[in-house]
Order: sequence, then C-alpha cells, then structure tokens
Amino acid sequence: MPKKIDAILTQYGRKQDELIPVLQGVQKEYGYISPDSVSMISRYLRISENQIFGVSSFYAQFRFTEPGRHSIKVCLGTACHVQGGATLLDMLERGLAVECGETTPDKRFDLERVACLGCCALSPVVQMDQDIYSRMTVNKLTELLKIYE
Ligand code: FES
Repeated sequence: MPKKIDAILTQYGRKQDELIPVLQGVQKEYGYISPDSVSMISRYLRISENQIFGVSSFYAQFRFTEPGRHSIKVCLGTACHVQGGATLLDMLERGLAVECGETTPDKRFDLERVACLGCCALSPVVQMDQDIYSRMTVNKLTELLKIYE
C-alpha cells in the first residue's frame, strides 16, 4: 500500500491547502483513509495527524474505517418512514448487531440511513450496494441479506 499512497501523494503539491484533494484521492483509491495513510499524508504535507482529523471532521465524505463489502442504506424519508422504514432499520441493527453508520465486525455490511432515495412511490425502500429494493418487509429483507456474502 505505501507505494500506491506515494504515487497518489506525488500528484499533489506539498502544501497544506492540498489536504482535501489528497484525502479525496486516497479515499477514491482505497474506499477509506487508513491510519497508515493519515500518517503518510501527515509527513507529506507536514501537518499533524490531529490537524488532518480536525479539518476532515467538517466533511461527511471522509471515512477513516475500512468499509464493509456491501452497503445497506435504509430510507427513512417521510414516505418510507410511514410505510415502516424504521422497523426495517431496527431489524437490521438488532440482526447485524450494529448501529447506523457502523460496519459489521465481519466487514460484511455497512449500515446507513438516508433521507430519500428518490423512489417514494415504492416505499419502504432499501438500497443494497447499487440495487434498490422496493416495498420491503422484514421477511423480504431477511431473505435478501442471505444473497449478499
Ligand atoms: S422517502 Fe424513501 S424513497 Fe423517498
């Protein structure tokens, strides 16, 4: 990994105002920014790791933990909430033993809640990776999880 990080870093100047583009570049390559990456970015830009975490905390886009193999997004927009989206989310949190925003210990799933997936007429809606599943129920969701290894 270090050689690849080096290749990414050398695309940017060694100035502190390059921090956000550097973080974006690393995350694009790896899906997250590992502790080793933070350390290398810190040395390259000559800023402390605390400064990196401080600045990046203003941006929801940055992720510092390894993502799961699959992403689950449960819609809790108004239409989906009315149709039982919260029940689906609760079932996932209990069944996978994670809270929203966390990754399962086996790195199989990331679990998130979203405000609207843009297909309210199909509520309640769950997105698994890039696929949208409509009119979800607890039973359908239980079966669906078995497909995603
Ligand atoms: S509220 Fe869920 S898709 Fe719009």
